[in-house]
Amino acid sequence: MADVFNWQLQRKMKYQYEESRPQKQIAWVFDTNKCIDCQTCTIACKQTWTWSTGQEYMLWNNVETKPYGFFPMGWDVKLLELMGGAKWDTAGQLTSETIFEQAPAGERAKGFLFDSEHWAHPNIGEDEPVGVAEKGTYVDKLPHKMWFSYLARICNHCTYPGCLAACPREAIYKRPEDGIVLVDQERCRGYQECATACPYKKVMYNPEDRVSQKCIACYPKIEQGEQPQCVVSCIGRIRMAGYISPPGVIDPKNPIDYMVKVKKVAVPLYPQAGTEPNVYYIPPVHADREYLRQMFGPGVDGAIDAYQKTKTDADLLGLFMLFGSTERIIRQFAVQGETAIGYDEKGTELVRVPVREPNIVRDYFDRVHDSYLHNIT
Ligand code: SF4
Ligand code: F3S
Repeated sequence: MADVFNWQLQRKMKYQYEESRPQKQIAWVFDTNKCIDCQTCTIACKQTWTWSTGQEYMLWNNVETKPYGFFPMGWDVKLLELMGGAKWDTAGQLTSETIFEQAPAGERAKGFLFDSEHWAHPNIGEDEPVGVAEKGTYVDKLPHKMWFSYLARICNHCTYPGCLAACPREAIYKRPEDGIVLVDQERCRGYQECATACPYKKVMYNPEDRVSQKCIACYPKIEQGEQPQCVVSCIGRIRMAGYISPPGVIDPKNPIDYMVKVKKVAVPLYPQAGTEPNVYYIPPVHADREYLRQMFGPGVDGAIDAYQKTKTDADLLGLFMLFGSTERIIRQFAVQGETAIGYDEKGTELVRVPVREPNIVRDYFDRVHDSYLHNIT
């Protein structure tokens, strides 16, 4: 095992291979507060990539309701049981062990493999809140006593993928040009060590072809400078895909860097596993904080504070308005007055949107359509 630096843990850790970061690392920010669980992303992915025999049960993108929803069933409860609770010191450094450091003798990571029953209930727990609603319950402060929240999930295209580390065939590789993690379908022999090691359970076995398969980050689109299907189809405009700078480098004009490193409004999912996942979440402001700290690590409180200041932060507000505004990958952004602008890698303007949407009050009765209209203020 090599010593590698994991910036999310603020320390070095053991990993199967030497540190070798790609020239560019694809990354995402998902705003959980805006997700409406419409599953449009799930279906967009399903129709694009997993419609073949042997892939029936696969959802490379899924949206689950926390705390009682999971796909596969109970995946993160099992992970936490296996790893034990995460421990962080006051400086934000992980003091507990990652899946690699907890690996049993002779294995490369600590993990578990689910059977088909666990994959058979993708909507379990959907919209089920935790806590009891008594008659007349009125929620007037944060976090809510009774809550649920939606967690959209794809492969994290980790910097230190558990799947890649565990495969004895070396059938999984991380592309140097963009950091996308792929399973080589020719080399794979279906050992499923990858599925065992992935802490997020984002590798899925195809019993028809006898190989493992997973989210490919819509790489044919990424190669054309376009965002993946799940991102561009998102009704709630909760997603943005881009590139994150390596540790120690911050480009404040880069949207992903700005959210993750400058404003620190987006945090990784279960960073304690040690894979350095590259999907970052803006945590739900209304959910239980202890729960969120276990799920997103010690940056959660700061992220929620930063998010709640968005109304008075024109740059962040403008950047959020650029979510879902273009199919192209936004490499740089700027906010000029009341306009947010996105640029491509050459500095060519891709899109401009108003920072604040105009507020239009409609007539109560619409004579053209002979109908009554409601205004939400
Ligand atoms: Fe591999 Fe899982 Fe990380 Fe995806 S989320 S790169 S499948 S370890
Ligand atoms: Fe390797 Fe996983 Fe295939 S362990 S052989 S990539 S099923």
